Amino acid sequence: MRKLENKTAIVTGGSRGIGANICLSLAAEGAQVVVNYAGNAKAAAEVVDKIEAAGGRALAVQADVSQSAEVKKLFDFAEQQFGKVDILVNNAGVVHYKTIEETTDEEFDRVMRINTYGTFYGMREAASRMADNGRVINISSSAVRMMLPTYGPYCGTKGAVEQMTRSFAKEMGLRGITVNAVSPGPTETELFMDNPPEKIERMRNLAALGRLGRPDDMGPVIAFLASEDGGWITGQVVPVNGGTA
Ligand SMILES: NC(=O)c1ccc[n+]([C@@H]2O[C@H](COP(=O)([O-])OP(=O)(O)OC[C@H]3O[C@@H](n4cnc5c(N)ncnc54)[C@H](OP(=O)(O)O)[C@@H]3O)[C@@H](O)[C@H]2O)c1
Repeated sequence: MRKLENKTAIVTGGSRGIGANICLSLAAEGAQVVVNYAGNAKAAAEVVDKIEAAGGRALAVQADVSQSAEVKKLFDFAEQQFGKVDILVNNAGVVHYKTIEETTDEEFDRVMRINTYGTFYGMREAASRMADNGRVINISSSAVRMMLPTYGPYCGTKGAVEQMTRSFAKEMGLRGITVNAVSPGPTETELFMDNPPEKIERMRNLAALGRLGRPDDMGPVIAFLASEDGGWITGQVVPVNGGTA
């Protein structure tokens, strides 16, 4: 029996990068997956196609996680289609590399709304709507543990996610629901590979294992945390970064 048979998962930002690999990994363990995306319907449909081609079940849903009504809609959809929500992966995120001095109100608002508010809205829906013994996994970043100029606003959004993770674990634990964060290091996705080549090289050299992360380094760890085997881990931030930080 696969580890997530009969479980329903919502993965925000499931259309590309790390989120797409999380969708594939959860589905490979038997979960039915709601693949959320913001604007890239084609990429989300490709993830669904891959899951279906492997015999799994998945549906793509557009929703902007920075809007609470849209996150509610995501849960409504999952409940209508699959009956319940057992696993929520708050993965949708954007980066912002500017000094604090250079960052405008609008830029700070955007990165906060998607990374932090989006995660908050997901957890708030999960609080009343997630099935007992469920799993919440928030995607943070190993950059939180590093002192990197131009990462202040971004790390601020993820630091807030890590703190909410700890409190929410205490709030949900008596229903058997675990709440953890996973913090990837630099990972080969569009979000990171948009950086200048010299910065990519510098980040690669920070890893003890001497390479960048790949999306498929992440999905299996999330699938483990989502499974029964991960049931005694809660309130933790799990670095998955090849020894970068
Ligand atoms: N890559 C890294 O080096 C790295 C390192 C540490 C942490 N992380 C974190 O890992 C997570 C995934 O990053 P990634 O590298 O996989 O990014 P990515 O390749 O740029 O993919 C981002 C995903 O988020 C979705 N998204 C963006 N804004 C959204 C919104 N408002 N509502 C719903 N979905 C939205 C995108 O949907 P569309 O396809 O529709 O645009 C896409 O599926 C993020 O939280 C990021 O901060 C990444």
